[in-house]
Amino acid sequence: MESTPLTAEMVSTIAEEHETLANRYGDIFKALEEGPGGIHAASKLLDELVEQVAAHFSHEEVGGYYSHVVEAAPWRSRVVDELKDQHAELLNTIRKIAGDACLASQSRLPCEMVWKEFAEFLHRCAEHEARENRLVQEVYVLDIEASD
Ligand SMILES: [Fe+2]
Ligand SMILES: [Fe+2]
Repeated sequence: MESTPLTAEMVSTIAEEHETLANRYGDIFKALEEGPGGIHAASKLLDELVEQVAAHFSHEEVGGYYSHVVEAAPWRSRVVDELKDQHAELLNTIRKIAGDACLASQSRLPCEMVWKEFAEFLHRCAEHEARENRLVQEVYVLDIEASD
């Protein structure tokens, strides 16, 4: 199969999406830190985040740079598979957190529990994103070298 080049545009789109998500994570974290005073806002933002995260993951997977990485550097397909598995886990986790925030907004769960869950989610997301940023940069550099 002919490999499509990983363009600078593709790399910067992914970086931009990560930045946009990071801003949203920050807003949600701030709202959750307010406890009961911020839980309604946090719950609404978390519902939106589920959609945004799902869209971001599918940009990466479907015709995105993941497929490029597998075509250009098949020996990295195991890393790509692991990253895809992490997408599924992260998406399940954020869906659960959004559900828990809704319960907390109805005083049926402690707000602090949602805050803790979200802090853990952020930690896992940061690791995931660092790994894919590294991967995309490595493959991009590889393409540039190959085209020289
Ligand atoms: Fe990802
Ligand atoms: Fe990502």
